[in-house]
Amino acid sequence: MRGAGPRAGGVRAGAGGLAEELGIDPSPQLQRLHALVLRQDPALDPPVDRPSPSTPPPPSPVSGQVAAGAPDALVGRAAEVDACTAAWRTALSGRPTAVAVVGEAGIGKTRLAEEVGQRASAGGAELVWGRCLDGGGSAAYAPWRQVVQALADSRGPESVARASAGRGAGALVLLPGAGGASAAVPAASPEVARTHLFEGVTAFLEVLAAERPLLLVLEDLHWADPETVQLTEHVVSRAARAPLCALLTVRDPEPGAAEATDRVLELVSRLPTGERVQLVGLSPDDVQRYAASRLEVAVDASVAQRLHARTNGNPFFIAELVRLLGEERAVAGRADVEVPRSVHAVLERRLAHLGSDLRAVLSAAAVLGRDVDVRLLAGVLGRSPLDLLEPLDAAATAGVLRSAGAAGQQQFTHALVQEVLLAATGPMRRAALHARAADVLEAQYAGDLARVAARLAHHHVAAGAVGDPERAVRACLLAASTALADTAYADAERHLTTALELVPSGGGSRSSELELEVRVRLAALASLVHGYGAADVLAQQRRAQQLVALVGTPEQRLSTLWGAMWSAIFRGDFTAADEQADEMGRVAERWQDDQLRLAHHHGKGVVHVQTGRIAAARAELELATALAADLAAGRRGGVTPVELLEHPLVSAPGWLALVLGLLGEDDAADACAEQARTAARSLGHAYSAVFLAVLEGWRHVFADRPREAVRVSDEGRETARTQGFQQLEAFCLGPHGWGLARSGGPGAVETGAAEIRAALEVFESLPGGASTGNLLFALCEALGAAGRWEEALQAGRRSLAALTERGEEPYLPAVHRALAECLRRTGAPAREAAEHEALARAVAERTGAVALLRRSATERQGVGSTLGA
Ligand SMILES: Nc1ncnc2c1ncn2[C@@H]1O[C@H](COP(=O)(O)OP(=O)(O)OP(=O)(O)O)[C@@H](O)[C@H]1O
Ligand SMILES: [Mg+2]
Repeated sequence: MRGAGPRAGGVRAGAGGLAEELGIDPSPQLQRLHALVLRQDPALDPPVDRPSPSTPPPPSPVSGQVAAGAPDALVGRAAEVDACTAAWRTALSGRPTAVAVVGEAGIGKTRLAEEVGQRASAGGAELVWGRCLDGGGSAAYAPWRQVVQALADSRGPESVARASAGRGAGALVLLPGAGGASAAVPAASPEVARTHLFEGVTAFLEVLAAERPLLLVLEDLHWADPETVQLTEHVVSRAARAPLCALLTVRDPEPGAAEATDRVLELVSRLPTGERVQLVGLSPDDVQRYAASRLEVAVDASVAQRLHARTNGNPFFIAELVRLLGEERAVAGRADVEVPRSVHAVLERRLAHLGSDLRAVLSAAAVLGRDVDVRLLAGVLGRSPLDLLEPLDAAATAGVLRSAGAAGQQQFTHALVQEVLLAATGPMRRAALHARAADVLEAQYAGDLARVAARLAHHHVAAGAVGDPERAVRACLLAASTALADTAYADAERHLTTALELVPSGGGSRSSELELEVRVRLAALASLVHGYGAADVLAQQRRAQQLVALVGTPEQRLSTLWGAMWSAIFRGDFTAADEQADEMGRVAERWQDDQLRLAHHHGKGVVHVQTGRIAAARAELELATALAADLAAGRRGGVTPVELLEHPLVSAPGWLALVLGLLGEDDAADACAEQARTAARSLGHAYSAVFLAVLEGWRHVFADRPREAVRVSDEGRETARTQGFQQLEAFCLGPHGWGLARSGGPGAVETGAAEIRAALEVFESLPGGASTGNLLFALCEALGAAGRWEEALQAGRRSLAALTERGEEPYLPAVHRALAECLRRTGAPAREAAEHEALARAVAERTGAVALLRRSATERQGVGSTLGA
């Protein structure tokens, strides 16, 4: 952007300094210009009220409001504009599109977006901007918050009410004052809240885009949190028939920011309507035009050539270079200053010319980020805002800061300016400024810290050794809670991991409490996102358990013991799992805590099932299920929200249903399954719902009900996919593949077997291994359905070995029976098949899992009643 003041300097540079600097004889035009400058010719004065012909004032990058100043007339970029315009036209036809505009800093991404935006606006579209903040100090979904807010402002309350009715309600989560975070984020179910949010924003935009087409510019996504990118993908891929296009500006991968960039690039390559527009430097011809337009005088081709060689055609570099050389020449009165090699060097030299008071103000401002709140800046500097007027004016004149949007807000004219200032501030001074910023923020937002949680954590963390580690940990915990409430899991995990690194070591019980608080939350979050068996989950759990024994609350105990127990069950260590369940019982008695009691019976029950003591399992699970029903009905005090995965209120009846199924008591099993489904619904607990689908899937496998197995697994998979529960999604594959293979249809066996194999691969890759016996059994039956008895036999043998090795007895009758059939079909001696049949019977009688002896429902009924009689 052009500032009025320094422009004359730039012109002078073009007139003489630049040409001389670049070792060129000044061209006649430049000489003429130089002469004009020396005469202070009014022709060089900044244009007054001369609207730039093709570019009305651009929307401010922050809020979609109008900012001061107009961009340079666009030079070149015809193909890039065309590519974006084509995407926009596709969007207008009702297919949402996304275009990533990619390139190095200063190359012209924002300028291109402005151009496309301006054309779309001229055609009647609404242009809305949302920007990511640098330095990790922005809250999750920052650009989307700005978009939703800007739309709420521009469309007014009636449109907002229409757009946020029904499915669109989730958008209000991003709109403070319109319900904000309280817009229904049930504590027990962050996953549901995420769907609510994603679907909400999508529906909200669908309605508003139908009223008036929308071009969204999401800026600087190289600084985006992962969830911002996910939400972007969700909106573009799910918005139905909406004239909506998202322009995503992102820098080329740089160290430290490459991940976010990669995510954006992957997103546009995945989307059928995604597009990538790569920006490189302007051509020498365009450099000539650009330099001429900045200098407002024709520029010689040879000057342009050299300028191009120096800057690779980066427009920001060119503009700053021209300006610097002008300034220096004006100061030094001579032209023989060295030409800096990089845009950073240019900026460093420009900034070096500013007075020391101004530099001090700018250093502090740079620490606060690209956007600067003047009140906060004044607080950090220990000065009054009025005191800052003069330096801020000087900064504006130097083209370093400009006012942005709301009163009291300043913005660096370009991200690079702020970055260079920050790099030029010594590390100790920077840390001290961050510590000050944290203090001032805490004082200014004392009643509402959650509002600035991410920023506060950022400053505390950046203060490092200069700051207070305990306050830093607390700030990170708060930021994690805010992120979790926004369903931004990756962001929450980032804050918690940072918190853990900051816990003061050797600080006695205070430190232990802090560490425990972080670990409990980290373990729960990691198991939610990565699954129970993941290595980091196990590490968190181990450490949390040591600490919880020293300083834990009942909820923390429940959370750690429950998590540790499931991890143990998962890797087949039933002794360890049993110990955790017993410990839950002891703690339950000590604290007289019903949730712990329920978890204890539940845990014992599951361990019993897995080790083949089915009658004992039934007894424990019945106690657990009765407690669950009481707790759900509020008969025993309420349910305290604890960060657990499969919620005992859901999974106790779910497991009981599975056990009753093994015992052949289908009606009772169905009733328990219904209790579990109701609990999952009323808790709004997506993870539990998927886990229940897995249990139900297996119940149907063992009862030989392929269609039901497919149905429940389909539901489970869909939920797991939308929530990002990768491990659980794989859990659903076993019953699903089995059901597919056995419900027939051409190709069904192939697909089904492939699904089961995919699940096996996931299970085998887990650290510590996971139980694969049932999956191999499912594979055996799937292959048998296609008459591939030899392969089925192999799978059956591996299943038997896996189950035996882990002591998972209850499912053995099914495997023996399947093996007997494979042996008969492959022409093995009848004796071998008979042996397996006998084993099946013997195990079933010992464990009680008689339903596994018969396939059809009628046969099962028969067995159940025979034994019952
Ligand atoms: N094609 C162009 N024609 C005219 N001016 C341009 C062109 N491209 C960029 N500029 C100007 O160059 C400067 C830098 O461009 P811009 O801010 O768009 O870069 P950017 O790629 O968005 O950088 P960053 O990654 O740091 O955000 C701006 O002043 C812009 O107006
Ligand atoms: Mg930009």
